[in-house]
Amino acid sequence: MTLTQKESWGTRVGLILAMAGNAVGLGNFLRFPVQAVNNGGGAFIIPYLVCFLLMGIPLLWIEWSMGRFGGRSNNHSTPFILDSMTKRAFWKYFGVFGIFTNIAVAAYYCYIESWTMSYVWHSVAGTFNDLSQIQVAEFFRNYLDISSSHSGIPYEAVVFYVLCLLLNTWILSRGLAGVERAAKIGMPLLILFGIFLAFRGITLGTSGASAEVPTASAWDGLNFLWTPQFDSLSNPKVWLAAAGQIFFTLSVGMGTIHCYAAYVKSKDDIALNAVSAGFTNEFVEVVLGSLIVIPIAAGYLGLDWVKENAGFGMAFQTMPFLFEKWGPFLSAAAGVMWFGLLFFAGITSSLAMGTPWMGFMRDEFGWGRKKGAWTFGLIVLLLGLPTVIFYQQGVFDEYDYWAGTVALVVFALAETVLFAWIFGMDKGWKELMSGSDLKVPSIYKFIIKYITPAMLLVVFLGALFTPLDNDWTGALNSLFSGNGWALDHGSIIKTIANSGLHEQLAAATNAKEITRLEDRLFFTNLARILLTLTFLGLALLVYIAGLRRMRTSKHKAK
Ligand code: TRP
Repeated sequence: MTLTQKESWGTRVGLILAMAGNAVGLGNFLRFPVQAVNNGGGAFIIPYLVCFLLMGIPLLWIEWSMGRFGGRSNNHSTPFILDSMTKRAFWKYFGVFGIFTNIAVAAYYCYIESWTMSYVWHSVAGTFNDLSQIQVAEFFRNYLDISSSHSGIPYEAVVFYVLCLLLNTWILSRGLAGVERAAKIGMPLLILFGIFLAFRGITLGTSGASAEVPTASAWDGLNFLWTPQFDSLSNPKVWLAAAGQIFFTLSVGMGTIHCYAAYVKSKDDIALNAVSAGFTNEFVEVVLGSLIVIPIAAGYLGLDWVKENAGFGMAFQTMPFLFEKWGPFLSAAAGVMWFGLLFFAGITSSLAMGTPWMGFMRDEFGWGRKKGAWTFGLIVLLLGLPTVIFYQQGVFDEYDYWAGTVALVVFALAETVLFAWIFGMDKGWKELMSGSDLKVPSIYKFIIKYITPAMLLVVFLGALFTPLDNDWTGALNSLFSGNGWALDHGSIIKTIANSGLHEQLAAATNAKEITRLEDRLFFTNLARILLTLTFLGLALLVYIAGLRRMRTSKHKAK
């Protein structure tokens, strides 16, 4: 395909599946259940749904509108999509987030994705047969500790990581058509596997109760998740977690949706497509995501165990063991389905993360998709290897925090202000409605202009200044009685200063513990330097692209 020919989506179904594939990811199956459990189960659902309606949906519309708008003038990544919407030059540097976040998240996201590949293989190979729960959990720990070769192939984690990147790169090098094909295969299979496993989840009942855990019941898990608790509505911590989950799961605030939407033909619908992709994601998350890990784990190990051990590694540490009880054939099949489902969820998301970089290099520097895809693979490899090798030292968590959490909120806030206030709500609304197959209720005009940015601001400030122990009432009382506001170590401000680590270090007495913490501090800072350099490198490219554009436009003017 030559550069003058416009690349666009093959079919509407392909577009919706690709967009849904971008949204439906590991977040739906691994992150959502953990967030829900850690935030009180049914207490989480109401803030979650409110955030979906008041931030998630509006941001989807904003990003689809911005993307299609940019695509019309041949811009396929956020720096110059933002630039095309305003007169001020600095906005394009905000747009750097829309490439940066994707690359940085891909670096650690593809690592989890590679675990799922490896686990599919081990399920088929029967590695987990006859292992006890403790041994299954140990297998996972050894897998992550790449200095050990207990899990079979030496450096297995690295091998699968590289394989996973190669596969992603290869599909990306086939361009939009490759992404569309992957979504058309992956999404239906994922839903099929999900329905099968969810069915097992709900029909498990108390049949998994054993001598060790006589009270285990899948229903306890479901009741815990689905009994609404209204008192949580006044707990900001739950709101922050709910907002964070909505961002991550819908892939908003990261520039991926803009990029995909930039390939929508300019007369095609976006309003209905956005809602279709968004609701598909919510179905997979709220229905399938909650009917698999939690009920099955609670059904065999008891709800208390689940509450104590909720973490995103939980699915890797427990599911193979729980499947063992289904007999040798069904256990291998279930392993393939579960880890295969995770793999499809993962790859349709990581492919999306490659497209903003490819679109940018193509728009600005005329790079073909092969060159774009392979450089993406290479950058992700360089940035990602530290997460693999120094996983235990916290590099992975650091990427997840800055790129996968904080950056999303910052960018979402900026783009909402740009869309509703600078580009202008009336113009924005017209853009959304043009070619639309859905009449969006005009109350959303008000929501997008006032409610969404206000909520984003509150979320951002809440994360910036999280009070000590998340005790908001205590902190407010203290503030009003003149005793100041004590920050939590989890607040963004204290995290920047690494104050949690410093405090632990000051209290540590054991030499081994001190070395561990010092290592952690070192690698945390290293991770930040790598992320900063990536961001600056991209900003430099945007700067150069800006100069080139100026030169050619002068050229044309003559
Ligand atoms: N939404 C995906 C999930 O739920 C994650 C995801 C997709 C993502 N694209 C992204 C995260 C870009 C950050 C950046 O797992």
